Amino acid sequence: MSSHGDPVPMTARPSGPLSGVAEVPGDKSVSHRALILGALAVGETRITGLLEGQDVLDTARAMRAFGAQVEREGEGLWSVRGVGVGGFSEPSDVIDCGNSGTGVRLIMGAMATTPITATFTGDASLRSRPMGRVTEPLALFGARAVGRAGGRLPMTVVGAPAPVPVRYAVPVPSAQVKSAVLLAGLNAPGQTVVIEREATRDHTERMLAGFGAEIVTEDGPEGRVITLTGQPELKPQTIAVPRDPSSAAFPVAAALIVEDSEVLVPGIGLNPTRAGFFTTLQEMGADLSFENARDEGGEPVADLRVRFSTLRGIEVPPERAPTMIDEYPILSAVAAFAEGTTVMRGVGELRVKESDRIDAMARGLEACGVRVEEDEETLIVHGLGPGGVPGGATVESRLDHRIAMSFLVLGLAARAPVTVDDASPIATSFPVFEELMRGLGARLERGGA
Ligand code: S3P
Repeated sequence: MSSHGDPVPMTARPSGPLSGVAEVPGDKSVSHRALILGALAVGETRITGLLEGQDVLDTARAMRAFGAQVEREGEGLWSVRGVGVGGFSEPSDVIDCGNSGTGVRLIMGAMATTPITATFTGDASLRSRPMGRVTEPLALFGARAVGRAGGRLPMTVVGAPAPVPVRYAVPVPSAQVKSAVLLAGLNAPGQTVVIEREATRDHTERMLAGFGAEIVTEDGPEGRVITLTGQPELKPQTIAVPRDPSSAAFPVAAALIVEDSEVLVPGIGLNPTRAGFFTTLQEMGADLSFENARDEGGEPVADLRVRFSTLRGIEVPPERAPTMIDEYPILSAVAAFAEGTTVMRGVGELRVKESDRIDAMARGLEACGVRVEEDEETLIVHGLGPGGVPGGATVESRLDHRIAMSFLVLGLAARAPVTVDDASPIATSFPVFEELMRGLGARLERGGA
């Protein structure tokens, strides 16, 4: 929800070894999609392991506003009775997507080819983010959108009365844009084609196939070409949401930088379009082992064991960025404890996330005594080695869950405590972060140092 309560300062103190099992919550990307596709299917979709973070709860509420029956039956256990492709009804009030770019962009896509009108808003962070990247392709289907200057929320989308299929090359590497176009293509007759130069997370494609849509992905000279046949009848599914690798990244990072730690993170999703962070850590010398590799609900999953490691700085290949886009904040915190320099290029998309993540990390790291360099598309962190980060600062989280969690993890291994001015955004993606990290031995406390 867009109302933001009082800030919740939180402090991380230097901690002893972390140990135990970190059961991180369900994947945020998969959870949004399970609710949205469930709402577009005919019949009852059952979901286990749904992330009950605020972002996903806001999407659940939105699906109800469009006419689906969405019920929580137990912890992570949800039922969605869908209205069928093209069956959304017009919401009687503004749709508030809170902090969630994925929520608002995917829902705009899902309603854009139905002849209804909806107005969207969100919190101060979401209202500052660009929506033109989604409304431009939606206009090709025949939808119209009117928002604030620069394509910002609040924004009203008028769904196309007679949608036509489109062929669209996504100009920025964005799974949200790709997914919005595919969801819009569901209610257009004929074939909608999306082309992406670099492969981004493919949960929408996998899940659409699972729901019975005709969708084909081919790799060609232009990149990935995804062809969806419109107006399918989506068949309800039983979906087991894997644990979120982007949430797992935080306890994994903490175990790597707090001396003598060993942590097991069971059942995390390791879809190759999401796993770039772990590859990068291994290149830095991290001791990671993947156990019990298996497939759950169409997504590869494994248990990850991580031990404290002496890390070295590396240059992260820019083409890997789409597979670890949400992990650069925590990578730059980890890089502060590596020996040598970590260079992250081609990461300009970080500037339009929940906050400008290059700026947020650079300012916070500097406050903690770490030297950084940045330009529009680059972040460079000069590592100080294990135990070398001074800390002892208060850092702004800027309504950004991943910035808050990155600095709280950093504070566990710094020489002096690190305070985050507002940890409340963590509830958008990882509501049990504090409890889970404390369970491993992390010294996290409410309030300032
Ligand atoms: C997401 C896509 C990514 C990512 C976001 C979740 C998704 O955004 O940063 O947290 O679920 O599709 P972009 O598509 O804008 O890169």
